[in-house]
Amino acid sequence: MTQRTLVLVKPDGVMRQLSGTVIQAFEQKGLKLVGLKMMVMERALAEQHYAEHQGKSFFPGMVDFIVSGPIVAMVLEGPGAIKAVRDLMGATNPQDAAPGTIRGSLAVDITRNVVHGSDSPESASREIGLFFRPEELVSYVRPVDGWLSE
Ligand code: CMP
Repeated sequence: MTQRTLVLVKPDGVMRQLSGTVIQAFEQKGLKLVGLKMMVMERALAEQHYAEHQGKSFFPGMVDFIVSGPIVAMVLEGPGAIKAVRDLMGATNPQDAAPGTIRGSLAVDITRNVVHGSDSPESASREIGLFFRPEELVSYVRPVDGWLSE
């Protein structure tokens, strides 16, 4: 089933010049980039984005970190895109993330874990709406889209 999902390259990833590496991992998998932007998140947006974690001990530190520098936000589309992104990212805690995954290869710290991806269809739709207006998402057909539907 074709899905869309939100991915953020977090401030540690941008500062370490890993934005391209992260985008490349998803593009090489075959996911289609349909939205892309860079910003420094407002605190209100960060608190909305991470609303499900409000009240947890790590919430203030996580919000401080995500607003501390630029992020790259993107929307990726493809069959099973939500799980595909999460599999490629690896476990939330980089210390548990399998070698070869983004976090397993590039991170050691649970807050500075390089990348965020939506964890369900409901989260994806909510999170995409927080970061992108509908007209900022681009629908287009690649040659491979024809092959996939054959
Ligand atoms: P992310 O995928 O962006 O979703 C929520 C974030 O909270 C997660 O990545 C981690 O960076 C952070 N997080 C989750 N659990 C913990 C924890 N126990 N301690 C610190 N940060 C956490």
